[in-house]
Amino acid sequence: MKTRITEMFGIKHPIIQGGMHFVGFAEMAAAVSNADGLGIITGLTQRTPELLAKEIARCRTMTDKPFGVNLTFLPSVSPPDYPAYIRAIIEGEVKIVETAGNNPQKYLPALKENGIKVIHKCTSVRHSLKAEAVGCDAVSVDGFECGGHPGEDDIPNMILLPRAADELKIPFVASGGMADGRSLVAALAMGAEGMNMGTRFMATKEAPVHQNVKDAIVAASELDTRLIMRPLRNTERVLKNSAVERLLEKEKALGANIKFEDIFGEVAGVYPKIMTEGQMEAGAWSCGMVVGLINDIPTCKELIDRIMAEANEIIHGRLARFG
Ligand SMILES: Cc1cc2nc3c(=O)[nH]c(=O)nc-3n(C[C@H](O)[C@H](O)[C@H](O)COP(=O)(O)O)c2cc1C
Repeated sequence: MKTRITEMFGIKHPIIQGGMHFVGFAEMAAAVSNADGLGIITGLTQRTPELLAKEIARCRTMTDKPFGVNLTFLPSVSPPDYPAYIRAIIEGEVKIVETAGNNPQKYLPALKENGIKVIHKCTSVRHSLKAEAVGCDAVSVDGFECGGHPGEDDIPNMILLPRAADELKIPFVASGGMADGRSLVAALAMGAEGMNMGTRFMATKEAPVHQNVKDAIVAASELDTRLIMRPLRNTERVLKNSAVERLLEKEKALGANIKFEDIFGEVAGVYPKIMTEGQMEAGAWSCGMVVGLINDIPTCKELIDRIMAEANEIIHGRLARFG
């Protein structure tokens, strides 16, 4: 399938694996890229720029296909050394960067001078337009359904995607709630040029996470996610577990007075325990409503080939029959 996104990134299928903390290692990115989607290494999961350089080099040994790096710009009093992470990306000859979080404007010149395409992840039309105005090449429009940080506007993709299509000139992919061929065709119908998936890619054979994480995704339904940190205006969609229930009790009890320190135990440094060690009650971890559509653990190639076959059948079979 040819779209503005496949052309821009030099990939065969318009399917991207979004950056995921403690999931987006070289194994994940290479598996998606080898299956002719676009795999993405999560930059900040690597504790230092030197480690990111090594992860990029490791990914190169696993695939000859294009892959990208995610850089998430977090609000922080002591931010990571972003210029050094960007140097690692440039020196590693990575040509695609997925940015997320705060406005990436100040880092764009360094990326663009080195021929790097930037796709910025946004949860609103106004942020998407800002990304376009500052020179991003594409955006990933992330609806309220998404795993991770949906922002504070709560607009689901049935509205957000056509709104984005009406306003944007640069191409965009649909992100949040995407799982199968139906998602892809719906995304294309609403004006997107492809789709970005997070949660769905975690439940694949190659995803470098503990089997307990994959089993939890397969077992969960669309009713099992919760929104946390809303009072801190840092909303995150996570899978419910005992740590999340505890955190929500604190939010209820403390109301507007809650501070990040109050929930430190449930959110800080929990990812390695969950993703690597499989301690499923260790804390809150991002997960989308799309868990309700995930019932198996295929390889990335099986998943992507199945999505493309299903999308083709919908376009040329089911929809064509409507005349
Ligand atoms: C476990 C997990 C960790 C994530 N970590 C990040 C991250 O570090 N940076 C980022 O930009 N997005 C992150 N995301 C968001 C994904 O890249 C993607 O936008 C989102 O998962 C799309 O929604 P979906 O889960 O419904 O497919 C994460 C998502 C998950 C599920």
